[in-house]
Amino acid sequence: MCGIVGYTGNQQAAPILLDGLSKLEYRGYDSAGLAVRNGDSAPVVVKTAGKLVNLIQATDGGKKLLGTCGIGHTRWATHGDPTVTNAHPHVSDEVVGVHNGIIENYSELREKLKDNGYAFYSQTDTEVIVKLVDYYYRKYKIGPIDAINRTMVRARGSYALALIFSDYPGEIYAARKESPLIIGKTEDASFLASDVPAILKYTRSVYYIENLQAARITPSTVQFFNLNGDEVFLPVKEIEWDASAAEKDGYEHFMLKEIHEQPLAVKNTLKNTDFDNIDLTNVKALDIVACGSAWHTGVAAQYIIEKLAGIPVRVELASEFRYRSLPLSKGTLVVVISQSGETADSLAALRKAKEAHLPVLGIVNVIGSSIAREADYVIHTQAGPEISVATTKAYSAQLVALYMLALKISRVNEEPYMHQLDKLPALISKVLEDKKDLQYLASRISNSSDIFFIGRGLDYAVSLEGSLKMKEISYIRSEAYPAGELKHGTISLVEDGTVVIGVLTQDDVYEKTLSNMIECKSRGAYLIALTSGQRPGLEKVADFIIRVPETESMFMASLAVIPLQLLAYYTSVYRGLDVDKPRNLAKSVTVE
Ligand code: G6P
Repeated sequence: MCGIVGYTGNQQAAPILLDGLSKLEYRGYDSAGLAVRNGDSAPVVVKTAGKLVNLIQATDGGKKLLGTCGIGHTRWATHGDPTVTNAHPHVSDEVVGVHNGIIENYSELREKLKDNGYAFYSQTDTEVIVKLVDYYYRKYKIGPIDAINRTMVRARGSYALALIFSDYPGEIYAARKESPLIIGKTEDASFLASDVPAILKYTRSVYYIENLQAARITPSTVQFFNLNGDEVFLPVKEIEWDASAAEKDGYEHFMLKEIHEQPLAVKNTLKNTDFDNIDLTNVKALDIVACGSAWHTGVAAQYIIEKLAGIPVRVELASEFRYRSLPLSKGTLVVVISQSGETADSLAALRKAKEAHLPVLGIVNVIGSSIAREADYVIHTQAGPEISVATTKAYSAQLVALYMLALKISRVNEEPYMHQLDKLPALISKVLEDKKDLQYLASRISNSSDIFFIGRGLDYAVSLEGSLKMKEISYIRSEAYPAGELKHGTISLVEDGTVVIGVLTQDDVYEKTLSNMIECKSRGAYLIALTSGQRPGLEKVADFIIRVPETESMFMASLAVIPLQLLAYYTSVYRGLDVDKPRNLAKSVTVE
């Protein structure tokens, strides 16, 4: 979703802002803009539609915009098309601003402002919020913080705001409700950003501004204020991530780099996950809630926890969970899984669970994120910053955190299982060693119009993730089906040459899934089998076999998913697509 950056210091702001925006590209966007001011002259605004490179060219890499204070933005369109006019920053008489989020009552506010003489040029809710701040600022002749606070009281929805007031040179004002925003500090400069990678190159000292707080940022100071306008003091936190985490390190894409970081992500998560402070004694059932790939890890966990612990597990999509009237019973632990910790639906689901007085465990990658802060208990996956929109290493880290949760809840003797888990990083590295076959396979399927992924049990969970990876970055229509369900409709889509990928790692359902694959083959399908171990006769059925090493069957998803990530990656590359920034998608979905 939209990305915000800000800088005030003694360097030229524009190149720093452009660099920061490039680090936020992964969030997804369709236009970009900057506002930079030189001393006390009015901020100069430049906006372009399309990729960031257009803004870089329009400003000659930032050289055309002089000044040491500025804000920048990448916009992911919600209200209004992705045009230059709708791009941020938006300008009012005294205030220039950028915004991430959605102002729900913007039409009503726009009418009010129109009645007060304001004209509107864009279709955005952002122009409304910027003009509302301007309105309060001028009408009541109050300072920026008071004007922002009045705006926060009036505006409904979620937002992170960065504003420049013409009367306050060298200063940036910020506020947030729900949408992420952090503030970074060095000795002689201050930064703000939607996410850590944007400023990691400059500083690791970060403040996490709280909900409904405002901030005043100058080169030498950072101050925070509550809704009453009283100053509040926030602790500075040190980010442990390495600056190189936000660079490609010689890999062609972040996705490929992150695929290769999975052994480390898994190893670090295994090493640093403990349940010492988490009370699991009276847990009678689990509700796992998440979105996207995080939800897929929940589907895998459901099979494992039900098998090991024998307690009921529900896995819900957060966007459904939040609006359903489903009975939430005492004794249930709600587990919210999220890489970013900012997904709007997952956060809303967490709050719903808390309102029902159920304990919430967050499994979150981004430290200091909203879900990490609001959950009763947190397990931090140790994947490090993930830049590519299509998740890989965070998914793998979530899986192992959930394996460990399954072991804890079931109170089995953990040792033999931990022994197997400790071997996972090396096994994943082994899968990553040989990619030639997958490159060939990607070229073979890259012109397909449809791909089906089928499997049963844990193999179905892996199919879900393999299919999502494929469709999100290759734009080939792909679906995952529980293999036994194909007959109830979907098999009518299988015709000569249709690609069907069967995931076959679970012994107990191997033959069943294989039969379903044969049914597809009889209708002309090109069959790809993803399997482990000896499978006599499989060569006769499958047109192509992908083999992964063996481990404890409950942990096979961690190995089986790797070739599917690589297959999606190479297919996207063959099709000449923007692997790390697929169209229409955002890394962190901070709106509903
Ligand atoms: C987006 C991302 C997915 C991710 C999902 C949930 O759709 O592109 O990769 O799985 O959001 O995000 P979260 O940050 O909550 O894990």
